[in-house]
Amino acid sequence: MTVGVCYFPEHWSRDRWEEDIEQMAEAGIEYVRMAEFSWSRIEPEPGEIDLSWLDEAVSLIGDHGMEAVLCTPTATPPKWLVDQRPSILQEEPDGTVRHYGSRRHYCFNSPVYREETRRIVSTMADHFADNPHVAGWQTDNEYGCHETIRCWCDDCATAFREWLRETYGDVDSLNEAWGTSFWSQTVRSFEEVDPPRHTAAEHHPSRLLDYYRFSAESAVDYNALHADLLREANDEWFVAHNFMGDFDSCDVYGFADDLDLITWDSYPTGFAQDRRQGAATADELRAGDPDQVGLNHDLYRGAKQQPFWVMEQQPGDINWPPYAPQPGEGAMRLWAHHAVAHGADTVVYFRWRRCREGQEQYHAGLRKQDGSPDRGYHDADRAATELAELDLDPVDADVAVLHDYDNHWATSIQPHAPDWEYWTHMRQYYRALRARSVQADVVHPDWDLSGYDAVVAPALHLVDDDLASKLRAEVADGTELLLTVRSGTKDPFNKLPDAPAPGPLADIVGATVDQHESLPEQLDRTVTYDGETYDYRTFAEWLDADGATVAGSHVGGVGDGNAAITDHDVGDGHVAYCGVWPEADLADAVVSDLLDRAGVAHSERFPTGVRAAERDGYTWVTNFTSDPVSVTPPEDARWVVGDDTVDAFGASVYEGPAADLSVDEG
Ligand code: GAL
Repeated sequence: MTVGVCYFPEHWSRDRWEEDIEQMAEAGIEYVRMAEFSWSRIEPEPGEIDLSWLDEAVSLIGDHGMEAVLCTPTATPPKWLVDQRPSILQEEPDGTVRHYGSRRHYCFNSPVYREETRRIVSTMADHFADNPHVAGWQTDNEYGCHETIRCWCDDCATAFREWLRETYGDVDSLNEAWGTSFWSQTVRSFEEVDPPRHTAAEHHPSRLLDYYRFSAESAVDYNALHADLLREANDEWFVAHNFMGDFDSCDVYGFADDLDLITWDSYPTGFAQDRRQGAATADELRAGDPDQVGLNHDLYRGAKQQPFWVMEQQPGDINWPPYAPQPGEGAMRLWAHHAVAHGADTVVYFRWRRCREGQEQYHAGLRKQDGSPDRGYHDADRAATELAELDLDPVDADVAVLHDYDNHWATSIQPHAPDWEYWTHMRQYYRALRARSVQADVVHPDWDLSGYDAVVAPALHLVDDDLASKLRAEVADGTELLLTVRSGTKDPFNKLPDAPAPGPLADIVGATVDQHESLPEQLDRTVTYDGETYDYRTFAEWLDADGATVAGSHVGGVGDGNAAITDHDVGDGHVAYCGVWPEADLADAVVSDLLDRAGVAHSERFPTGVRAAERDGYTWVTNFTSDPVSVTPPEDARWVVGDDTVDAFGASVYEGPAADLSVDEG
């Protein structure tokens, strides 16, 4: 397991580089990522390429026994290029141009920008093709950062029409698939379909969903262009991209075939504040939410079903969330261990030194701007030493959580409640798994699920006959399946099918949805399950059992007495359906029953903030709280890092199973 760092030699005078690079090597760093926003340094004048500075930096890194990861610099087209070719700029739905001045101001569908991309990427790739110190590449930077996956410019309009032509063949099929008789939306040709630009009321949900799919595929296409050119130059390099956390518009599964390595950028104290429902607790402001971060680890591991990298790990305080508390003492080490427990092979800290200029001056590095060590440096150093000892096989998860961006987009287009939020709903079930120390791969519903004992499918909203048949066969073969609210409600075109929800899944669920409702907190939100009473939130369905056993019912409200949770035996497996969005206790009850039926080993339920994860026979105990915790591992466990008192914001590792761990009463 290795540690790396992001370095921007172009931000520092040349006489500082040796010292920086020497200190990196002393800290046990093995990879140095560079050049991601450096186009204007590489090509200061049109056609005048200068890579000599990067050659020097790469060779210094090689001289110190480390390897470089280079980036294609396309996230920041330089001013001269924007001036020469202004059509590359993105547009908002109301036609406002996203001008030069920050980053990510180009459109994926601009033919002109694709041409410029080919030119700069092949120039760099050819230049470094034989350099022994370059291990691989990161394409661009964070596709979609600053909400830039979707663009509404004329190039996108042309490309969208082409995409629709390829998808539907003729315009009658499009009208039929979308259902355009509503509000007079029938079109006579593909030319009549525009991007969903600013309009008076909401757009047609089928048109929006297709625009979201088209936009996500545009980013995938654009990325393939980079990947092909890099591989042509040297097919031994890895090609990676750095994705984002809890991110909505970019479909990582679409990239999996074009990338050798999936990586993502983890900023725990920012995510707990700026992309999660509910105020961050004091502990989360110091160390983040382990399940929010963990779900992203498992998504990016699941996307290729292989180890991933954290390409940017928060190094200390950061500039972009509302508040910038200092992370808890040791948190930068905790995050590295947590990532490795979830399947990371490498953790790369962003960035080496706090930058003295530009937009991110209020962002820490591992070292301060004067080069002296900052709080994260000692953590990174310690993590590098501890992790260097471990040579681990990938995570082997018994459970899959199904995730399809289409379901996210479709339920977000028609959320049906102000507090419907797809990731939050999914995370409620994920938290229940993680509180019982179960590892889960977050995978696409179309993939082969036969290797999993249990499958949790939160809000599997869009379902057609093919997906239903596949799940039917998998359950008949012994898979334990848990489906949740809003599943099977719509077809893949985001339209209601003839049959009521769960549509083509009704026979395996053994029930149909009679009514659904979304509920604010003033209304009754209580159900019984297995003789106990539980609270739920936001969304509920009244179920008509037809073959299934009623395991839970609504209490109070106009749905009083209706079935809410059902169980159904199907062949060698079993389908549970949870027709409410559960609060944590109900999620735990439903999920632990699922695990027991599936025979998946799990621990007792751990308190919030304390998590255990097993990888290759080792168990990590991670403590995201500000109090030390004392744990009891299995009898023959052997501690390899730390011991049974896990410090505040600390991590310990033992050899032995996670399921047999217990947390001592505090
Ligand atoms: C990431 C981005 C980096 C830097 C960092 C600051 O999203 O990839 O370039 O901006 O955030 O936290």
